[in-house]
Amino acid sequence: TDTSSTPAHAPSTPFRTLGIVGTGAMGRGIAQIAAQAGLTVYLHDQREGAVAEAREFIAGIWARGVQKQRLNEVEAERHSASLKEAAKLAELAECDIVVEAIVEKLEAKQALFQQLEEILDDRAVLATNTSSLSVTAIASACRNPARVVGFHFFNPVPLMKSVEVIPGLRTAPEVTERVAALGKAMGHFTARATDTPGFLVNHAGRAYGTEALRILGESVTDPATIDRILVDQGGFRMGPFSLLDLTGLDVSHAVMESIYHQYYEEPRFRPSPLTRQRLTAGLLGRKSGAGFYRYVDGKPQVAD
Ligand code: NAI
Repeated sequence: TDTSSTPAHAPSTPFRTLGIVGTGAMGRGIAQIAAQAGLTVYLHDQREGAVAEAREFIAGIWARGVQKQRLNEVEAERHSASLKEAAKLAELAECDIVVEAIVEKLEAKQALFQQLEEILDDRAVLATNTSSLSVTAIASACRNPARVVGFHFFNPVPLMKSVEVIPGLRTAPEVTERVAALGKAMGHFTARATDTPGFLVNHAGRAYGTEALRILGESVTDPATIDRILVDQGGFRMGPFSLLDLTGLDVSHAVMESIYHQYYEEPRFRPSPLTRQRLTAGLLGRKSGAGFYRYVDGKPQVAD
């Protein structure tokens, strides 16, 4: 699906310059839609070459968009020019919001926000794309927790047109409002959620994932059949195993464990031993070429 088109009149946003830290699957998606909404985007990643890869990836999407006449060359060039590399973290100094999409580890996110507090203007917002950590806990390491907010997108960002905005317990209401307005300006439906384990979407979706894994664990049927049934009968765009493969078990399993522990071992949320075992085997999903499905040229191989 083409995700490159730009609204004819890019809506004005409460922010002009947005920094992304972590230019993996999520960071590059957020960067793409931010540039399309007219923001200047600075990209930073700790891995050498990661930003160049991300910019090339996004430029490729816009180039295909031009071929399909979804945007013109001038727009594609303007978007590409608004994606800038911040080779050092300090080069994010001019950003009025930074969205982090780094590894899902509390200590890493806290350390990053502490560093950013030294670099950014006092009014700049620190947003986290965490899927399972507490926004309040991330903010607790900051001198000014009022500027920290959850801004949780879904993969792939340009296609999954919802975003959760999650204030921590000490987030300033004005920060939540501005970030919600930004989500809307980026073309996404903005759902407010309180800072609870899994927020809204990963809480609501839990039941399907954990029950599907139980069905598989009891050998009732295979992943492709469960996926097919949930698509046909449940109206889902994608079944739970396709989704686990898309997200990657390294991310999903950690999210499942985190939500389970944050709810004090609530049995409803207990992760499946199946995912831990498959994680150990390196069957992560699309990113490793095999998960619940095998992938050839990025396409899942399913028996008829
Ligand atoms: P990814 O592994 O594709 O990308 C992470 C990037 O961050 C890598 O390029 C890595 O080099 C960089 N990085 C790691 N630590 C860093 C640091 N301290 N400083 C600078 N760069 C650093 O991961 P992905 O899937 O994009 O996830 C990123 C975040 O987004 C995680 O917090 C995850 O929970 C969250 N998220 C992921 C979703 C998914 O479906 N993959 C959905 C929603 C949220």
